Amino acid sequence: MPVSTSDPLVLGIETSCDETGIGIVRGRTLLADAVASSVDAHARFGGVVPEVASRAHLEAMSPTIQRACDEAGVRLADLDAIAVTAGPGLVGSLLVGTATAKALALGLGVPLYGVNHLAGHVVVDELEHGPLPQGCVALLVSGGHTSLVLVRDRGMDLDPLGATLDDAAGEAFDKVARLLDLPFPGGPWIDRAARDGDPQAIDFPRGLSTGNDAARYPYDFSFSGLKSAVLRWIRAQQSAGNQVSFPDVAASFQEAVVDVLTRKALQACVDHGVEHLVIGGGVAANSRLRALAQERAMGRGIEVRIPRPGLCTDNGAMIAVLGAKLVQAGTEPSVLEFATTSTMPISSILANMG
Ligand code: KG4
Ligand code: ZN
Repeated sequence: MPVSTSDPLVLGIETSCDETGIGIVRGRTLLADAVASSVDAHARFGGVVPEVASRAHLEAMSPTIQRACDEAGVRLADLDAIAVTAGPGLVGSLLVGTATAKALALGLGVPLYGVNHLAGHVVVDELEHGPLPQGCVALLVSGGHTSLVLVRDRGMDLDPLGATLDDAAGEAFDKVARLLDLPFPGGPWIDRAARDGDPQAIDFPRGLSTGNDAARYPYDFSFSGLKSAVLRWIRAQQSAGNQVSFPDVAASFQEAVVDVLTRKALQACVDHGVEHLVIGGGVAANSRLRALAQERAMGRGIEVRIPRPGLCTDNGAMIAVLGAKLVQAGTEPSVLEFATTSTMPISSILANMG
């Protein structure tokens, strides 16, 4: 049975990758956002190790729930509903979250919403900037995903427009950071290194942005060629005995990524007649992406909404607020035996039977 409350108290559980996130909201008000990350355990492997991530979720789960309840000043018994990421993500990690959520919902006798992680990255912006407009375009950029989505019905209806054909934007940041001997995850390090570099120093390729490619793939992305171009450029400089300026490489690479992301996202807004662009996912924390999106949108009369960096990277608040919106919309909850799906499509906000 759906709960009938206009400001439901919802606990959200996020475990799709390496962050154990527990958020608590009352309606659109954020009460707690507790995150435990296992990133340090993966750093020496240069990427997230699924088995290590699942074990870390299991260890972090109870203390992080406790921390969130303390921060919010609520007891589990006060909750109106539980929301949890049902996909997409690493299946072992997702299972820790969904098993916890099912047990909590069953024990507390409250409805359970198994929700889409990517939809969470869109609606989390409501915690900072209020209700989403009826229609907008969302650019979702993370370590695992890079997509453009047409968002209708204030975030309740997501229609994919395009996505990366190879590497995700965050994956490209992480791989190029490795070439520059920067730690994992590399995005924040490249962001920092780029501040001392010249973004015009090296003309790196902009994938699917010109000629036939741009016409055929207006809303799709490709970053694997860019990553190879960076590697080739560094090798060529080194074999010619030239000094490689890492800040220049970082700045020029970052410029190539954010140039394509912002150009295609704003074009999608114009093409679909919407006046708002929402940007979410870990790469939305990038300072140059934030600045360039605002700069380019201003000239076109488009408003850009980007949550603060802590709400861009994975967290439980985004899942809690999505759960609260579903409760407020009177949506029927997921069945307790809903499927956990590593490849959950963005068009499906709520999980049910597999
Ligand atoms: O959304 P997220 O926390 O987890 C996934 O669902 O993947 O995104 C993580 C990704 C990583 O690839 C990380 O390098 C990137 O977001 N990232 C950044 C920045 N902060 C995090 N990329 C560029 N600039 C940043 N400041
Ligand atoms: Zn994410």
